[in-house]
Amino acid sequence: MRLILPLPGQEAMATRLAELGRHELGAVEMRRFPDGESYVRIASDVSGRHVDLVCTLARPDERFLGLVFAAEAVRDLGAASVRLIAPYLAYMRQDRRFKPGEAVTSATFARLISGAFDALVTVDPHLHRYPALTAVYTIPAQALHAADLIADWIADQVEQPLVVGPDEESRQWVSAVAARAGAPHVVLHKDRHGDRDVSITVPDLGIFRGRRPVLVDDIISSGRTMIEAARQLVAQGMPKPVCVAVHALFANDAYPQLLAVADRVVTTDTVPHPSNAVSVALLIAAQSEGGDVPSRRL
Ligand code: R5P
Repeated sequence: MRLILPLPGQEAMATRLAELGRHELGAVEMRRFPDGESYVRIASDVSGRHVDLVCTLARPDERFLGLVFAAEAVRDLGAASVRLIAPYLAYMRQDRRFKPGEAVTSATFARLISGAFDALVTVDPHLHRYPALTAVYTIPAQALHAADLIADWIADQVEQPLVVGPDEESRQWVSAVAARAGAPHVVLHKDRHGDRDVSITVPDLGIFRGRRPVLVDDIISSGRTMIEAARQLVAQGMPKPVCVAVHALFANDAYPQLLAVADRVVTTDTVPHPSNAVSVALLIAAQSEGGDVPSRRL
């Protein structure tokens, strides 16, 4: 039996993982001193235990130091091992120096995490140019995939779906989702001109009239990709799309802006958000135990 310790805000996922795996749920106390420094206390007996710290890494800069303090404390208090369950893993985008002098933050972040934990479990890391997490993580790092859960949700919830990938990068993923959902798919063309500046070109979708477009992507961050793709689909005469993503980052007002152009917005619970409708808890629990993975809606 493992000991599952949620960091603040991660209690829902940690509780489900503990229930599903019949593990013990523990507690970490964390607060800020008046000057902003972190106070961390492990409020469970970790001695000799295999410990999972649960901490999704959306908005990582706010969380990282407290997470490392907690990991070090768990180890210091005699845990047999300490594993990070990070349903969303941050700092994957800057995987090379695009301009002279830039920090390659994905490599630094991986080194810091690898130094603090014995193992890592995450869901759909945005690998970009790395072939696998092991290219930068020096600890056992397991990447789970939510494609089947998303495909099953689409098959169950959307009539006559047309699965749509917003860019070439999504092609392989989107075709796998569409195949499992028993739906056709298309891929759009995306040009990114800046962090919040994206243009999308849609091919002629005449043969798919009568179908409901389902935009599928791994991450919604600024939301520009989904918002522009949704607008272009509607401009082509398609109905408003259902927008589905794994990781609900939603910077600033991205969520209300997307809701205004979408039929529905659905995400997994790798990052707690009102749009969560597909749970990855079973995926993580089954994988941690080496079991099979049934799909399940929230
Ligand atoms: C791109 O490489 C990713 O798959 C997503 O399309 C992208 O990260 C979404 O970002 P945003 O919401 O900022 O357009």
